[in-house]
Amino acid sequence: MESNKQGSSDSFWARIRRPSTKYSVLTLAAVFFGIGMLFLGGFNAAMDVVGTLEFCGTTCHEMRDTVYKEYMQNIHYKNRTGVRAICTDCHVPRPWFQKVWRKGTAGLDVLVGKATGVVDTPEKFEAKRMEMASIEWKRMTASRSIECRACHDFDAMDPKRQKPAARQKHDAARQEGKHCIECHKGIAHKLPKEYKGDSEEEE
Ligand code: HEC
Ligand code: HEC
Ligand code: HEC
Repeated sequence: MESNKQGSSDSFWARIRRPSTKYSVLTLAAVFFGIGMLFLGGFNAAMDVVGTLEFCGTTCHEMRDTVYKEYMQNIHYKNRTGVRAICTDCHVPRPWFQKVWRKGTAGLDVLVGKATGVVDTPEKFEAKRMEMASIEWKRMTASRSIECRACHDFDAMDPKRQKPAARQKHDAARQEGKHCIECHKGIAHKLPKEYKGDSEEEE
């Protein structure tokens, strides 16, 4: 009985457990594959959590009481067609791997670092807003507003349905190779009070 049981388990479990070269390679491969998948899965899951609107907007009160609140009143939060842009759409560079490794992350770190702790009251936040906004403007200028253009495209706009001012500016912008953030600052949050406007915009 005992030996029989032993024998049958030997056929599968024991063989798999036995540290023979043959199986340990297989087992090791499986284990590493498993760990790899877990790591990737966990990493992706973590990215998914960290990337949600709720996480970015409400985890720390610095964001919750300022930019998040403003954003909740913004067209990018709620609009006629129901297409939503969340924090990461505008603040995390594309494509995905860039999001994780590249300069963009450093930029994001700076932004988050500036916002958390340092600016722990809405008043302190306002005092630092210009500095933080400038970081994002600089980054979006360098990317030629690629974050915006992931959703918006001059080609996809119907000028006939835009205000004459927009139509005219967009026409010229396209010719001159200008991009969104050059003219559209403060499209999701309040503008810093120190911001006096770009010459292009304020005429
Ligand atoms: C995830 C997609 C997405 C991203 C990214 C995005 N937008 Fe939008 N944007 C929208 C949607 C959707 C609307 C609302 C469209 C509507 O209902 O008319 C909108 C509206 C706008 C409007 C019109 C505002 C108004 O009051 O009529 C401007 C200007 C604008 N976006 C600029 C930008 C700029 C600049 C960026 C980059 C910093 C950007 N958007 C990034 C999706 C996006
Ligand atoms: C040279 C300046 C300039 C550039 C560059 C520019 N815009 Fe505009 N845009 C304007 C002006 C001016 C208006 C009209 C005033 C307003 O609504 O803010 C406008 C209006 C809009 C509107 C509202 C249109 C309407 O009539 O309801 C959207 C959406 C928009 N822009 C998106 C973009 C996006 C996306 C980009 C980049 C692909 C971009 N703009 C680049 C100047 C510019
Ligand atoms: C449609 C694009 C867009 C979305 C969505 C968006 N932002 Fe922004 N954000 C900007 C731009 C552009 C700036 C640069 C300053 C400006 O123009 O208002 C900025 C600036 C900031 C700043 C610097 C302080 C300031 O007001 O300039 C913080 C912090 C910030 N965003 C956090 C967030 C958080 C948190 C969310 C989500 C709740 C979010 N943003 C959603 C476009 C966006």
